[in-house]
Amino acid sequence: MNSYKTIFPLVMIVILFTTNIFAATGKSLQNANNDPQDIKSLQSGARNFMNYCSGCHSAEYVRYNVIASDLDLSDAQLQENLMFNAQQPFETINASMPSMDAAGWFGQAPPDLSLMARAKSTDYIYSFLKSFYIDQSSPTGVDNLILAGTSMPNVLWELQGHQVMIGEQGSEHLELSNPGKMSEEEFDIFLRDTVNFLEYISEPIRNARRALGIKVLMFLAFFLILAYLLKKEIWKDVN
Ligand code: HEC
Repeated sequence: MNSYKTIFPLVMIVILFTTNIFAATGKSLQNANNDPQDIKSLQSGARNFMNYCSGCHSAEYVRYNVIASDLDLSDAQLQENLMFNAQQPFETINASMPSMDAAGWFGQAPPDLSLMARAKSTDYIYSFLKSFYIDQSSPTGVDNLILAGTSMPNVLWELQGHQVMIGEQGSEHLELSNPGKMSEEEFDIFLRDTVNFLEYISEPIRNARRALGIKVLMFLAFFLILAYLLKKEIWKDVN
């Protein structure tokens, strides 16, 4: 009887763990391997985002001047490289395309990307952007392995080239049929920088918060030693 009581919770834990892992890997996402502490990568990501995404997608929770100070950009760099859709540095990133029109053109308005990395993970976005393939029957000319039937066109085809689907259902995979301007490695870096920027905007305060957290822990450790020494001093005559 007793052994049942110990084994049952253990079995439940194992089941919960394995189903959770399967749920997470259900769509076999690729690893983005991005590093939100890498400022150079974030700078490239910001440029990629403004050039290739902000035409359709907004990022309404982040301001240009915050990006500039977090990413070590001067005012001139900000104006020249990022502020295509805005007049003032304190503005948030609006899509150049009005979302009512976009909904009409694409059937679905492109979602705001401020919190997308937190909602879906950088691995998801990285895999999504890599998984467009030619599908003549689709209105955009492409479909996507990660989000089947998506109304987003393959906006990066010039860089990546065109992919086609090979193989039967269950064993299908994508192959490059026409190379683009970038090699596979260059395109991977382009995507890694882009999703890195999306992770940064989903929590711009993250790096500052971590740095503060370390200082707080160091203070607590120091205070623990102090409190211990004090306790020893106070109780030394009693013990
Ligand atoms: C030509 C317009 C256009 C451009 C440019 C564009 N997108 Fe999209 N995007 C869309 C539309 C439309 C949707 C909605 C698709 C859907 O839900 O089927 C979408 C959806 C998405 C989604 C959500 C996918 C999901 O699972 O719901 C992500 C992430 C995304 N885009 C990222 C990007 C990134 C990153 C870029 C820049 C490299 C970009 N998009 C450029 C039109 C665009």
